[in-house]
This record gives sequence, structure tokens and C-alpha cells, in this order.
Amino acid sequence: MAANTFHLAWFLQGSSIQAWGQEWTGNISEEWMSAEMFLDLARSLERAAFDYLLLEDSIYIGQNWQNKRDMFLKNGMSVPRQEPSVIASLMLAATRRIGIVPTLSTFAYHPYLTARIVGTLDQISAGRAGWNMVTGSSDYSGQNFGLDRLPEHDLRYEMAAEYIEVVTKLWDSWEPGAIVADRKTGVLIDPERVHTIDYKGQYYASRGPLNSGPCPQGRPVIAQAGGSAKGRATAARYADTIVAHPKGIDGMKDYRQDVRTQMRGIGRDPDSCKTLFMVYPILARTASEARALADERRTDAARNIDRRLAQLGWMTNIDFSGCDLDAPVGELSTNGHQSSLAGFLRKAGKNTLREAIIDYSSAGACVDLVGTPEMVADQMDEVMQEVGGDGFLIALPNVSRRSVAEITEGLVPALQQRGLVRTTYEHQQFRDNLLAY
Ligand SMILES: Cc1cc2nc3c(=O)[nH]c(=O)nc-3n(C[C@H](O)[C@H](O)[C@H](O)COP(=O)(O)O)c2cc1C
Repeated sequence: MAANTFHLAWFLQGSSIQAWGQEWTGNISEEWMSAEMFLDLARSLERAAFDYLLLEDSIYIGQNWQNKRDMFLKNGMSVPRQEPSVIASLMLAATRRIGIVPTLSTFAYHPYLTARIVGTLDQISAGRAGWNMVTGSSDYSGQNFGLDRLPEHDLRYEMAAEYIEVVTKLWDSWEPGAIVADRKTGVLIDPERVHTIDYKGQYYASRGPLNSGPCPQGRPVIAQAGGSAKGRATAARYADTIVAHPKGIDGMKDYRQDVRTQMRGIGRDPDSCKTLFMVYPILARTASEARALADERRTDAARNIDRRLAQLGWMTNIDFSGCDLDAPVGELSTNGHQSSLAGFLRKAGKNTLREAIIDYSSAGACVDLVGTPEMVADQMDEVMQEVGGDGFLIALPNVSRRSVAEITEGLVPALQQRGLVRTTYEHQQFRDNLLAY
């Protein structure tokens, strides 16, 4: 592989009626339950040799607009959402090499259950499962599980550290070679090599061992996305891959350097965790067509300000419906996704809420990528050269078989021709591919 080769992953915002009301989405509103479109997506990404597909999850229906669900239900915003581990197993059955990473939130699944679900996914896929570790952000999601509210932001990360300890200890509860399957003696499993963990922490406890048995990867891949100080510290300690959305090249560089420095500080090899930066490429046959599409995104944001603010409110746990659109955004705080709110506020500066939300929702996550596949491939090359690695997390607001093909059949071949991404997988298992370069 060339020195500047990078990784690609895909961020799927749940399996649901994606891109409701948008063009080229076929009969998704009738066919979504079967998940066939999402299986086609997984197959296409595997053909393009992506490292992994990450399935987002949130476990509640948004109510962050006028304190009602109407905006979210009427527009199909993050609803309906299917259980990601079920869709992940279908995706793994439909593919052979790509990693599949469902999101399992720490407040909703006991760590034993997470270890068992992700461990089972790893088994049925011969070592291609991952877990997106999130701590949640909305009290509405906590209320679905009998909590009045989620714990305070930093405490959630403290609890998450303990949670991950339990999960990894359970994965380690089977020593390699524990299944001896000796036909002569009739012994299937060597009892000496399967251990209780007897974990009793401040927040979680589990006896173990894991009854589902050992994982082909030993420990499945852990993905993490927290951008706050606590979030990054957690990622530096435990993550194999980070999905991040800092704004601009300097933000990306700082984020990656910070995590790598922290990893060195705790004795981890910084190359053992790959940070992927979220982007929404806008592709077209010509540069001017691509520019027009980007302008359309801005016009669309200006036309649908309520919807965009509701979406930001969903992410940041704030109801913006009572705010004056033509007043400066001012100070805001959240017990939800802190770095998402910080990114919005930094970009907003002294702008009005109206200007700020239009800018925020028409920008391309970490950096803007707009042009023909060749132009965007060159832009991605330049960004990676400046940031230093490790790759991109592609997210599209209009997931359809057509928009997926623009990436897998247009952009990826242009990247491959430049030697910037792989053309075939090096290994059978997910982590081995992630760490192959
Ligand atoms: C690419 C990406 C994917 C994420 N996926 C999820 C998700 O599926 N579920 C969720 O509750 N939070 C998700 N988050 C939010 C993070 O878990 C985290 O709460 C957020 O980045 C803010 O982190 P902070 O509170 O440490 O700033 C995601 C964030 C990013 C950047």
C-alpha cells in the first residue's frame, strides 16, 4: 500500500425510511421493513472494499420541537428505527469481508448482553463484528428504559469505562483453544480455560463466563464517537476506531493528534486506533453541476429551517422552537452531545440562529467535498495529507441505491486509481483489515 493510503467506512443513520420525500429512493416507504436496500448497501460497500458499515441508533422518537413528536413522525426524521443488531446479522449474512458495527447504547443493554450480542455476531461472520459504544444523549431514550433522565454527561463516560471493562473481560473469559472438541475423550470444552470474571464495579456487575463462547477476533472491534474531553479520553483508552466530526482541517488534525498523544501516554500504540472523519461528498458529472447541487442543499436548508433546527435539537437535546430566529444564537449548554453543540456554536459565532442553522446544515461535516469523482478524490487526498490519516466516514443525507452507486461506482474507483484506498481486502477479519495500513 502507498504511504498515503486511507480507510473508508459508511455511516448509516439506522435502517428505516431513509431520505423520505427525496428523489431516486424507489419504493423505500413500502419496502423498508425487509431491509433489502440496506443489504444491497452492505454488498455494494463490500465490493468497494470499505472497512466497515456503522449502524447508528438512538432508541427513541424525537420530541425536541414544540415538545411534540409531530415534526419527527410527519417527516420520518430518525423514525422508524429497527433494532441494529438484527439488521447487522442480516448484513453479515449477506457479505463475506466487510466489518459491520451496530450501535448498542450503554443505558439500554446490560454489558453482558452487549458482549453476547456482539460476540455472536463475530462468530456468525468469522470475525467481522464491531460495536459502536455510545452513552446516549436524550432523557427520552432513558425514559424508554425506566430512567427519569440519563446520568450527567461526564458521569456517563465514567460509567462507560466500567461498562467496557465488563464487556472486554467477558470476551476474554474464554481462553484461546478452550474448545478442544476431542472426539477420542469426548471432551468438548476444557473447563480450565473458561473463567468467571466476578466483576463488581460501582455501576455494573457480572459473574461470567460468557455463555456464548469465544469470539473469532478475541475481542470484536470497538468504535467510539465522543468528541468532548471525556469522550476522547474514553476513545484513547478503548477504541479501535473513532468516528469523528470536528470542523475543518485544523479541527481534524487537533482531534487526531490529541487522541494519539493520549494513547501514547497510556502505553497504547497510536496506530492501533483509526480515526475516520465524517463527510458528505456531493458528486456530479461536472464541477458546475456539483456546485449547483451544493447550492440546492443550502436553499433546501433555508426552506426547511424548522426541520433542520428540530434535527439539531434531537442531536443536542435542546428544543429550539421557542427561539428567535433573527437573534444571535448566544450561549447554550446541553447534557446531550456536547461536541456537536460546541461545533454548532463555534460555526455560529455572532450570526443569527437562522443564518447559523442554514450554514450548519448545508456544510459538509468535517470538510466540504464537492465536484466530479476525480475532483473529490483529489480533495480527499489533500485533506488526508494535511491531517495525517486515517480515513473518512461517508454519510449521505439521501441514501438511495443511486446515491450509494455515486460513491461506490464513481468516487471509490477514482480513489483506487490514485492508490488512495484498497482494491481488495488484505485479510479475513475486520480488525486485521483496519490495522493493515
Ligand atoms: C459519526 C458519529 C456517529 C454517532 N453515532 C451515534 C449513535 O448511533 N447513537 C448515539 O446515541 N450517538 C451517536 N453519536 C454521538 C456520540 O456518541 C457522542 O455522543 C457525540 O459525538 C458527542 O460526544 P461528546 O458528548 O463526547 O461531545 C455519534 C457521533 C458521531 C460523530
